[in-house]
Amino acid sequence: MKLTTVKAAEAKLLIQTYDRLPVLLTHGKGAHVFDSEGNKYLDFLSGIGVTALGHAHPAVTKKIKEQAGKLIHCSNLFYNEYQWQLAEKLTKYAGMDRAFFSNSGTEAWEGALKIARAYATEKKNGKWQFLAMENSFHGRTMGAVATTYTEKYRKPFEPVLPGVKFVKFNDVEDLKAKFDDTICAVCIEPVQGEGGINPATVAFMKAAKALAKKHGALLLVDEIQCGLGRTGKMFAFQHYGVKPDVVTLAKPIANGLPLGAILTTNSVAKVIHPGMHGTTFGGGPLSCAVAMEVLDTMEREKLLAHVQKTGEYFLAQLRKLDAKHACIADVRGAGLMVGVELDSADVAKEVTKQMLLSKKIIINRTHETTLRFLPPFIVTRQQVDQVVKSLDKVLSSCASAGDAAVVAKKTATGGHRRRLQKGAGH
Ligand SMILES: Cc1ncc(COP(=O)(O)O)c(C=O)c1O
Repeated sequence: MKLTTVKAAEAKLLIQTYDRLPVLLTHGKGAHVFDSEGNKYLDFLSGIGVTALGHAHPAVTKKIKEQAGKLIHCSNLFYNEYQWQLAEKLTKYAGMDRAFFSNSGTEAWEGALKIARAYATEKKNGKWQFLAMENSFHGRTMGAVATTYTEKYRKPFEPVLPGVKFVKFNDVEDLKAKFDDTICAVCIEPVQGEGGINPATVAFMKAAKALAKKHGALLLVDEIQCGLGRTGKMFAFQHYGVKPDVVTLAKPIANGLPLGAILTTNSVAKVIHPGMHGTTFGGGPLSCAVAMEVLDTMEREKLLAHVQKTGEYFLAQLRKLDAKHACIADVRGAGLMVGVELDSADVAKEVTKQMLLSKKIIINRTHETTLRFLPPFIVTRQQVDQVVKSLDKVLSSCASAGDAAVVAKKTATGGHRRRLQKGAGH
């Protein structure tokens, strides 16, 4: 099949939600994907943080084949063999008690918001409002867009879920000022993904937990992008010594099969009674069996330690580029969730395009100016070197005009480059 054929057909047949790159992907292997013209790309985005074990991992392929030949779907009217096993594994890792399985991230988040409301209803405490963060992203359903900061995702669909106040991320004083007894939950991504790879500070996470406790509210932690090993620990909240009341997961959980999860404690879970929440597809035998295989493979291949080590190496190499290229405003991240913020949205757009077209490396741009890297957990040091070397070259060619402007501005003002979130992290 040809790219031009697909492009023309989609333009006519699909609701135009996506601004796709001009590449028709056909198959993948490990950290690489291939297109319809035979080009090979190094995938440093993993389908936006999804294919953590890489493409066509033999253990995943084997499990899919096996389970597809046995039972793909049976509905939640019946038991299947895998939900409890997956729940046991995830809750053990998280230090939580119970799980609910959805199909996607946004559904997991929607469920978390419902749990927070149900908790307040059960306690009859009159709380109903949410605190969410500036630059947050929680998905595309109505509750998720209500708690998502960027206006373009929310405004066209208003009125959305009422009662959401936005707090300046990592600003403890703003959090304190906005926390009152109407708040049923505070919503945090420990490392914001779509918002530009912004890690929460330890002080902010601890303050959120303490204030939630003081006001009888829940701490909802969205680990849909940063969870399940992405930051080098199984859960990002584990970097902070803070235990949330509810955690949401999705993206890498079944290496590309649709599955999301909510984890919580016994004391919170008991406010949900049969019939209050549910799903047709969520937690089906195929996706749960594969998720078990993903977690087993992560253990077997010791991928958490690998993510930690490779992530540190990647950040160190990128910091060397930071010292060299004036257009880099900041390098930040945790594990293999890495952002390079540039001074200009136009340069960031061009760099992303050139990495794809001339270097055959897939990354993307988030929050306008941030280059986002979410490579698979199996990535090698050599592949990191290849990306850093290519980025160095692309930055030199794309950013020369931008650099000249920045250097001129710095010289004129005697100031330093803008460094959003500098000092954030753990
Ligand atoms: C932090 C976070 N929450 C929620 C979502 C929504 O997940 P999904 O696209 O699976 O609905 C995303 C997706 O990017 C995300 O990054």
